[in-house]
Amino acid sequence: MDFKVAVIGGDGIGPEIVAEAKKVLNRVAEKFGHEFHYQDILMGGASIDAYGVPLTQETIAVAKASDAVLMGSIGGDTTTSPWYKLAPHLRPEAGLLGIRKELNLFANLRPAILYDELKEACPLRDEVIKDGFDMLIMRELTGGLYFGERKTIEENGVRKAIDTLTYTEKEIERIARKGFEIARKRKKKVTSVDKANVLDSSRLWRAVVEEVAKEYKDVKLEHMLVDNCAMQLVRDPAQFDVILTENMFGDILSDEASMITGSIGMLASASLNDTKFGLYEPSHGSAPDIAGQNIANPIATILSASMMLRYSFDLDKEADAIERAIKKVLTEGYRTKDILSDGLSFVSTKEMGDLIAARIEKE
Ligand code: IPM
Ligand code: MG
Repeated sequence: MDFKVAVIGGDGIGPEIVAEAKKVLNRVAEKFGHEFHYQDILMGGASIDAYGVPLTQETIAVAKASDAVLMGSIGGDTTTSPWYKLAPHLRPEAGLLGIRKELNLFANLRPAILYDELKEACPLRDEVIKDGFDMLIMRELTGGLYFGERKTIEENGVRKAIDTLTYTEKEIERIARKGFEIARKRKKKVTSVDKANVLDSSRLWRAVVEEVAKEYKDVKLEHMLVDNCAMQLVRDPAQFDVILTENMFGDILSDEASMITGSIGMLASASLNDTKFGLYEPSHGSAPDIAGQNIANPIATILSASMMLRYSFDLDKEADAIERAIKKVLTEGYRTKDILSDGLSFVSTKEMGDLIAARIEKE
């Protein structure tokens, strides 16, 4: 089959890790008889350098005309990069938020799995890890604090900043539905995370999630406060199946979840709307401090490409082949710098991509 993939290399390590994901996709195409047609588009800092804005209408148009978007990462060093001297709406992150909103990508799926092979890299003790964990964070992506009205004003000589946190019941309902649907295909448990002891938006969140749950009686629902969830993630991560949460809580908890998988370089993500279309990107950032050194871990991006095959293209066998190839490479002891431990073989970004691509097999 033929698929159109819009590709955003982005900033920092972005172009390096996306190149490795394309390498693996090309191998999949060869082995399984597909064709991926890539079109490079600019976003974030790269777009600011070329056009003065982090997201152009052209980028949006090309993305919309594609079957999916594969992305690396955007942004630079917030203390030294000139991009952060620009007005907030012209900075790299505004491009990412803009494209999420423009494409209505309200559901962000971030699976956090502890591979047996990476137990050494997990900072938690063996008694805590037990038999490992396999959770999925379902993060709402186009609402909440990220998209509420914000401003900084001066009142009687005192500066004051205002960010607004808004959720409508419709926004909560559609993400809750996605959470329950995916839980049905997994271990049938949803942990809805909020701050209902303080926030109105969380109280509405909890009420709507309860209502939606009535249609999914086969799925177990529990509620957890976000501070407790942050603690439970490092106390007993195996208790979680699907964590359903709003935008900012999901941002924070997914970084925490990624670290207990061994490295933030392992966490993939899919951002979906109500169709088959999606944007696929690693959960980590652009790591400007290690950009251009050929040491970044491309696995999160390669896993994101595998999610693209699964969710947007319905190519489950091909996605399985990528995941098998990654496991194989890890079992054979190859590690990028971030997941390296004693006695294992250090490989570069490019070598990791080559090794995974070479292990793509139909069975
Ligand atoms: C993420 C990132 C983004 C977010 C930033 C770059 C705006 O941290 O995808 O988790 O906060 O959503
Ligand atoms: Mg984040």
